[in-house]
Amino acid sequence: MTNPSSPRKIIIDTDPGQDDAVAILLALGSPEDVEVLGVTAVAGNVPLALTQKNARIVCELAGKPETKVFAGCEAPISRKLVTAEHVHGKTGLDGPVMPDPEMELSEGHAVDFIIETLRSNDAGTVTLCPLGPLTNIAVAFQKAPDIIERVQEIVLMGGAYFEVGNITPAAEFNIYVDPEAADIVFKSGVPITVMPLDVTHKALTTKPRVDAFRNLGTKPGVMVAEWTDFFERFDKEKYGSQGAPLHDPCVIAYLIKPELFKGRHINVEIETGSELTLGMTVADWWGVTDRKPNAMFMGDIDADGFFELLTERIARL
Ligand code: BDR
Ligand code: CA
Repeated sequence: MTNPSSPRKIIIDTDPGQDDAVAILLALGSPEDVEVLGVTAVAGNVPLALTQKNARIVCELAGKPETKVFAGCEAPISRKLVTAEHVHGKTGLDGPVMPDPEMELSEGHAVDFIIETLRSNDAGTVTLCPLGPLTNIAVAFQKAPDIIERVQEIVLMGGAYFEVGNITPAAEFNIYVDPEAADIVFKSGVPITVMPLDVTHKALTTKPRVDAFRNLGTKPGVMVAEWTDFFERFDKEKYGSQGAPLHDPCVIAYLIKPELFKGRHINVEIETGSELTLGMTVADWWGVTDRKPNAMFMGDIDADGFFELLTERIARL
């Protein structure tokens, strides 16, 4: 499972979130596959003051306090922030009690870091990995349109087709929070790979999978087990499912082992007008329009392979 070529350069844009935290650990545990140029925090699951702090907690937990963490946008482009404490708890990382981070926030705004990084690296060599609302990415594209064609790919968690919605009957949380930002990103022309709920609702924790994390006996292993224990209660009640979906790690797992996922290259548009279906990802899965495909929209995952990869990589931290 080693990558013969050099690691792919990525920026993780995130609103941690227990599942975001696991995604960051997976990336930091996989240096031969991905080089994390920086972690950019955005408001989402909880307000920015907490997401930027949580991002630093996770980097320290991984034993990588040298990771650059930037604070980004505090609110969606043109709407009031909607948060998800009902899922992630008051801190966004509820579950085990975590100490405050010692590592400092990097200086500067996350949006400027994204712009400068894309300008200073060769075109087509930096991949963006959004795990929360798309505000930081869209604002960077608006502020510096020259960077758009320099992005290698955007691999994001967001949206749904068969699973429809988790925050409204029609919309998935990350897209719903900032639909205008999502619209900008999906219309940008950058190659996009999407991990929608259709995939992430198949990446479910089970007792043996969580025990495997806990049995690593390391601090990160035990933390992941305790986070998922907390995170599970919500989905078990809501969906009657056996465990919790580890949404965001699907993005990083795709960069490491794309063969774990299957999907279709299709047209995906974002609903920004209707109050009823705001933030819906209108995905032309069946090819019933002649709208141009703009995204690789995933539909299936090898869940056993995904959890094996996660456990193996978290064991290294
Ligand atoms: C997404 O919303 C957040 O609550 C999770 O971290 C994930 O990114 C799932 O809808
Ligand atoms: Ca997230």
